[in-house]
Amino acid sequence: MPTPDSPTIPTFLYGTAWKEDRTATLVEAALRAGFRGIDTANQRRHYFEAGVGEALSAAYSAGVVTRADLFLQTKFTNRPGQDHRLPYDPAASLSVQVAQSMANSLEHLGTEQVDSYILHGPASNYDWSEADAEVWEAMKKERDAGRTRLLGVSNVSLAHLEQMVAVHKEAPTFVQNRCYARLGWDREVRQFCRDHNIIYQGFSLLTANVEVLRHPLIAQIAQRTNATAAQMVFAFARQAGMLPLTGTSSPDHMRQDLASSAVQLPADVVEMIETLAG
Ligand SMILES: NC(=O)c1ccc[n+]([C@@H]2O[C@H](COP(=O)([O-])OP(=O)(O)OC[C@H]3O[C@@H](n4cnc5c(N)ncnc54)[C@H](OP(=O)(O)O)[C@@H]3O)[C@@H](O)[C@H]2O)c1
Repeated sequence: MPTPDSPTIPTFLYGTAWKEDRTATLVEAALRAGFRGIDTANQRRHYFEAGVGEALSAAYSAGVVTRADLFLQTKFTNRPGQDHRLPYDPAASLSVQVAQSMANSLEHLGTEQVDSYILHGPASNYDWSEADAEVWEAMKKERDAGRTRLLGVSNVSLAHLEQMVAVHKEAPTFVQNRCYARLGWDREVRQFCRDHNIIYQGFSLLTANVEVLRHPLIAQIAQRTNATAAQMVFAFARQAGMLPLTGTSSPDHMRQDLASSAVQLPADVVEMIETLAG
């Protein structure tokens, strides 16, 4: 089972959502800054996957990175999560939609294989439905055919995961969730991930947790550690076993976010942050 420390899975993912025309420039800047993990989705509503591909191609040509240096992750997004710019035929079966979306992602990203393929979100907020089961089986076929190395799910609850594992007898390699400090940093789902050797990818670590960033204790420890509050949150996330995402558009923040890997918080501080808000 790969771990966030294994050489093929970086310790930070650069997220490419909401960047529109700036996607290519920002992804290239992120690669030049040192990010080696890229998260995108074949969901034109929030991501411009072809722009990620442009950045990759520019970075390869400039000798910044090679494909082998990178961890590329993209997603299959169900019809309700998309706008009119669909990467598949909506009249086709879900299995065919997965195959079409994947083929289109590989074209966008200029690769024959991604490192991770994520189900963007289950069809229902409550249960792992038959539709999800069909999509997951189709994703497994993509993996068996070598078009992705690993598989994952996003925006899932503990109930989704329990049902999913019961149905498919196999846990995903990744769970990617929004991580709220007031919900114990998604405590229940993270516990399930630990129990099943799943790597938990946390997003919105800063935007969902403004109360943590502004907390006087965090400010105090940050000052003592010579780190920013944002770096404290990323360092905490990593020490709590998460693989964090950042989608910063700022070159300074790119450097600071990557430098958070060197911030080592004492165990009692990690424990304190675990329960700071919930
Ligand atoms: N699976 C899903 O459904 C889903 C949903 C949402 C996001 N995601 C993924 O997660 C990625 C990250 O998204 P996110 O929701 O975490 O938000 P985000 O787009 O990463 O936003 C982070 C915010 O924090 C700021 N920031 C970053 N580093 C900072 C630093 N060192 N100091 C101060 N401010 C800093 C950024 O501002 P600056 O730009 O000014 O630095 C930005 O406003 C997305 O791009 C996407 O790939 C996935």
